[in-house]
Amino acid sequence: MEAGDGKEHFLKQRQVLIFFVLLGVAQAASEPRHYSVAEEMESGSFVANLLKDLGLEVNELAERGARVVSKGKKMRLHLDRQTGDLLLNEKLDREELCGLVEPCVLPFQVLLENPLQFFQADLRIRDINDHSPVFLDKEIILKISESITPGTTFLIERAQDLDVGSNSLQNYTLSPNSHFHLNLQDSPEGILPQLVLDKALDREERAEIRLTLTALDGGPPPRSGTALVRIEVLDSNDNAPEFTKLFYEVQVLEDSPIGFQVAMVSARDLDIGTNGEISYVFSQASEEIRKTFQINATSGELFLTQKLDFESIQTYTLNIQATDGGGLSGSCVVFVQVMDLNDNPPELTMSTFIDHIPENLQETITAVFSVSDPDSGDNGRMVCSIQDDLPFLLKPSVENFYTLVTNGALDRESQAEYNITITVSDLGTPRLKTQHNITVTVSDVNDNAPAFSQTTYTLRVRENNSPALHIGTVSATDRDAGANAQVTYSLLPPRDPHLPLASLVSINADNGQLFALRSLDYEALQAFEVRVGAADRGSPALSSQALVRVLVLDDNDNAPFVLYPLQNGSAPCTELVPRAAEAGYLVTKVVAVDGDSGQNAWLSFQLLKATEPGLFGVWAHNGEVRTARLLSERDAVRHRLLVLVKDNGEPPLSASVTLHVLLVDGFSQPYLPLPDVAAAEARADPLTVYLVIALASVSSLFLCSALAFVAVRLCRRSGAASGGGCAVPEGHFPGHLVDVSGAGTLSQSYQYEVCLAGGTGTSEFKFLKPIVPNFLGLGEERVSEANPFQG
Ligand SMILES: *[C@@H]1O[C@H](CO)[C@@H](O)[C@H](O)[C@H]1NC(C)=O
Ligand SMILES: *[C@@H]1O[C@H](CO)[C@@H](O)[C@H](O)[C@H]1NC(C)=O
Ligand SMILES: *[C@@H]1O[C@H](CO)[C@@H](O)[C@H](O)[C@H]1NC(C)=O
Ligand SMILES: *[C@@H]1O[C@H](CO)[C@@H](O)[C@H](O)[C@H]1NC(C)=O
Ligand SMILES: *[C@@H]1O[C@H](CO)[C@@H](O)[C@H](O)[C@H]1NC(C)=O
Repeated sequence: MEAGDGKEHFLKQRQVLIFFVLLGVAQAASEPRHYSVAEEMESGSFVANLLKDLGLEVNELAERGARVVSKGKKMRLHLDRQTGDLLLNEKLDREELCGLVEPCVLPFQVLLENPLQFFQADLRIRDINDHSPVFLDKEIILKISESITPGTTFLIERAQDLDVGSNSLQNYTLSPNSHFHLNLQDSPEGILPQLVLDKALDREERAEIRLTLTALDGGPPPRSGTALVRIEVLDSNDNAPEFTKLFYEVQVLEDSPIGFQVAMVSARDLDIGTNGEISYVFSQASEEIRKTFQINATSGELFLTQKLDFESIQTYTLNIQATDGGGLSGSCVVFVQVMDLNDNPPELTMSTFIDHIPENLQETITAVFSVSDPDSGDNGRMVCSIQDDLPFLLKPSVENFYTLVTNGALDRESQAEYNITITVSDLGTPRLKTQHNITVTVSDVNDNAPAFSQTTYTLRVRENNSPALHIGTVSATDRDAGANAQVTYSLLPPRDPHLPLASLVSINADNGQLFALRSLDYEALQAFEVRVGAADRGSPALSSQALVRVLVLDDNDNAPFVLYPLQNGSAPCTELVPRAAEAGYLVTKVVAVDGDSGQNAWLSFQLLKATEPGLFGVWAHNGEVRTARLLSERDAVRHRLLVLVKDNGEPPLSASVTLHVLLVDGFSQPYLPLPDVAAAEARADPLTVYLVIALASVSSLFLCSALAFVAVRLCRRSGAASGGGCAVPEGHFPGHLVDVSGAGTLSQSYQYEVCLAGGTGTSEFKFLKPIVPNFLGLGEERVSEANPFQG
């Protein structure tokens, strides 16, 4: 209501008021009168004219002392007593007076005196839109987790508007955005603004959203107030860690050291804070993987904690999980491939090994073995070899198996043992190899007979040995071994069945020593041959034989024996020498033999004693006795010469012979022997005739055998000279000695001759004498010369 247009209105009200006052006199002011005024009117503004309402005259107001009373001290209304206008005493602020209470009514009374009269009245103060909506906080902060689902509502603080009614808050608006809209809700307290989440928040996309909230009231014109709504998006663990690669493939050499960094995995988590803190762990890892690898939980570095071995494990598949603080996780796979290195030498496994192989067998299997190398590729390919110079062959059989066989027959005697080095090497880089040494022993087979060190042994024994003398040793060796090489010796039956072998020698079966069983006599047996056998103990036994030639060596055990002149006869021979003989006339020849041989039989002659020294001389080497000078009449008729015959043995043995020489004047008349001898010879005995005949036949027989002997001897000498042997070379003969070994036979013929002459002494026998030497003279001239009866 405006004060300007109120005259008519005022009159109508005045009439109504009067009517009521008239009524009210009786009823004592029962009906209050209502007035209204807008707030914020200037003081003195007209509110209403009371005259009509009260039914009073203009001057009545002043006369009766009309006034306005109200509760409280403050007099907000003033009554103009002249006009009856009710005026505002001051500016009224509805909000101050009533706050939110609507309607805002100030009750008052109009008091009249004389008579006392009350009029109840009230003044309603009408609201005008004099306040804008106001937010208490200019900035509203909302913390909303990004995980909140759309549709969720968030109450926000309301704005305040002191005005009431349509002037109060009517509407809110929100700046356009993609995440929220505003929901207004009526409530007894007014409109409640709510933010409704339309679309899920994503902190990772936008961490803060700023919106402007505007509050509007309804007054004409509407007023507004704004506030900034700051929405902080709270992180929620809505992002799982994500690996940059889902599959890692790495290759690691198997000799990589402990601590080697195999790989480094990394995952990303868009969340922040603990939601973004990633720790890496193995997931579903076997014990083996846990032993072999270690992962740094914070950095994702993958280390080796133990040595890899291609041969046991070639690949590892590691599942690695990255977990953030909120418990979300992601995973990746690391495929670790172990690269082979040639770190394993080949290995050899012996399956069968026969270390003793009999000799003389063809192709024998000695060993069966297998080779292996855990490495792969060339590192695991192998070659197998043995030394080149062995009679063995390596034969590959089934896969990686080899047999070692002999390449033909072995001979224990040439090599009894083979050290075989089997070398297995792989083809890797570097090449690794394994050596296996085996020793194969060749076992013996009795394939060798004992062999004597010589096929012929020549043993020399001095005669007159002591019995059971060790005369020599034969030895045979057997190249076999063991019993096959144990040699026993034996004597074999002699070729000459008459040789009394059993009494001559014996042999030690074990060591081949030969013993002379009895004393040997060179003069009886100069040599003999024995066959010895050697046999081994193999089965079957093998044997061989050798010839042992035993030579009996001569000892000087025989003194020279004088054949002529005969010494044991009672009537010694007497040589006749004509006095007319010239110097050097051969008187006779002393003939001697020696049973020994060699030096022991080399004889020398020496004139030991003579009746007249100087008349006769003896030739040392042939025993010829010759006159040394012309004979004279003064020389005695009889002479006696003592001749010493000495051999060259050590010590020398000797014999002496006495010669009787008779000097005669001529050969015309036969000179009779010594008177005493002649007496004996005179007794001619018819028995002698038979004896002579017997002797003659014996002599001729002897002659024959002697000739044969000479022939044999000559033959043998020529043989010995060419073939060596035991013969003493001719040149070694001392000059003064005579070898009677050849002449001995002649001497023997002499012996018989002389014995005939000396033994019987008859003239008939002497007459026969020249015949015998004539036979002999065919062989040796000197002997015939020596015959004193010749010529
Ligand atoms: C609030 O304001 C909006 C936009 O200005 C309008 O569309 C809506 O009808 C209003 N609401 C009320 C209750 O007046
Ligand atoms: C893991 O790696 C981090 C960063 O490289 C390092 O500081 C930490 O010491 C490592 N932890 C272990 C257990 O090695
Ligand atoms: C074999 O080896 C052994 C021991 O090393 C050795 O005594 C022997 O002489 C060797 N044999 C051969 C035939 O090399
Ligand atoms: C095998 O024998 C060879 C040659 O005799 C030798 O060099 C090598 O050391 C031996 N090997 C073994 C393992 O005994
Ligand atoms: C002398 O010796 C020879 C030969 O030894 C013999 O035959 C002869 O009977 C012996 N004479 C005497 C008388 O002893």
